[in-house]
Amino acid sequence: MQTKVNITPAKKLLSLPTYVFAELDEWKEEERAKGVDLIDLGIGNPDGATPAPVVEAAVKSLQNVKNHGYPDFKGKIELRQGISEWLHKKYGIDINPKDEIQTLIGAKEGLAHLALAFTDPGDINIVPDPYYPVLSRGTWVASGDVYHVKLEEKNDFLPDLDSIPEEIAQKAKIFFVNYPNNPTAGVATLEFFKKLVDYCKKYNILLCSDLAYTEITFDGYKPPSVFQVEGAKDVAIEFYSFSKTYNMAGWRIGFAVGNKDIIKTLYNVKTNMDYGTCSVIQDAALAALNMPSSYSEEITGNYQRRRDFMIEGLNNLGWNLKKTRSTMYLWLQVPDGYDSKSWCRHVLEKTGVVFTPGIAFGKYSDNYFRVSIVQPDEKLYEALDRLEKANIRFV
Ligand SMILES: Cc1ncc(COP(=O)(O)O)c(C=O)c1O
Repeated sequence: MQTKVNITPAKKLLSLPTYVFAELDEWKEEERAKGVDLIDLGIGNPDGATPAPVVEAAVKSLQNVKNHGYPDFKGKIELRQGISEWLHKKYGIDINPKDEIQTLIGAKEGLAHLALAFTDPGDINIVPDPYYPVLSRGTWVASGDVYHVKLEEKNDFLPDLDSIPEEIAQKAKIFFVNYPNNPTAGVATLEFFKKLVDYCKKYNILLCSDLAYTEITFDGYKPPSVFQVEGAKDVAIEFYSFSKTYNMAGWRIGFAVGNKDIIKTLYNVKTNMDYGTCSVIQDAALAALNMPSSYSEEITGNYQRRRDFMIEGLNNLGWNLKKTRSTMYLWLQVPDGYDSKSWCRHVLEKTGVVFTPGIAFGKYSDNYFRVSIVQPDEKLYEALDRLEKANIRFV
């Protein structure tokens, strides 16, 4: 006889808002079942192959028996040295490979564990909205609360620090920011980072900068690192990812750099929860950092070309998009008469083109939707064609 048990998940999991991406998957399933040939512009998964030197380094590393055991918790010193040199070359910043770098199983893992490392039940973390989901969900899973600062187009999608109530600033533990930004494609100036560093120092807040899109930039634009601000190391940590820069989303590797006490606390959580990044993947990542820049230029060149014809095509359908300077995302307004979900569902049913509803990125984003330019050019052209034929326009 089967024993009936009732084991409920933790309340903090049950109380999380629905993960809209899971709902989106259900819609896609329904359309596929009807035989619709979908063009998925909903995902943020790079569509290109990992560059050959990275794959070759991984194959070689896999044959080395030394890499078959548990990896070093912090990451191999060779990789940490490589990261430090790469950061110096890119941003002119000095990061000590010994105690100011932590390798990660992707930036997402590190961001979630950072929230866990510093958030007690009832603590408040500040997150600009719209946001990459883990920036808020990490805090909720750690039983903390999130104060969302609304990002608005009129402020170039930068948070208005003066709008944050004094009692929130006094209580906040972590201020998460992500520039270049997913989903808005907004970018931060060094001036903004200076203000934010001062703000976090004034209120004793840990500043967490997510720089996952630092290399996906167009027209020569170079995003700042928070560590280009003097004294930022007193309060800040910054997250980097190999996923987008080198088409390595499936390899799961990223890193965090910054204040050594913050890095040590993150390390502390990780030693309790995981074993770090597979050594083979670390060797591959080091090869990626050492590749000639022509490889990443090819990747960003593809996105830049797509950005150009997609913005032109969407503007011909009535939108009024400005040229983005970074990321593989376009952030568009939903036409009147729809919210973001009903709009994306409508487009999907009429055209088979998948967009992500803005509500997936926060409560303030229900009048926007995100278009990811992560399909080959011909698919993107076909998507524009389908939209036009179905009279999908911004009116
Ligand atoms: C803003 C942002 N940060 C972090 C990540 C995750 O990076 P990783 O693949 O290194 O975990 C993503 C992935 O889409 C992202 O959009």
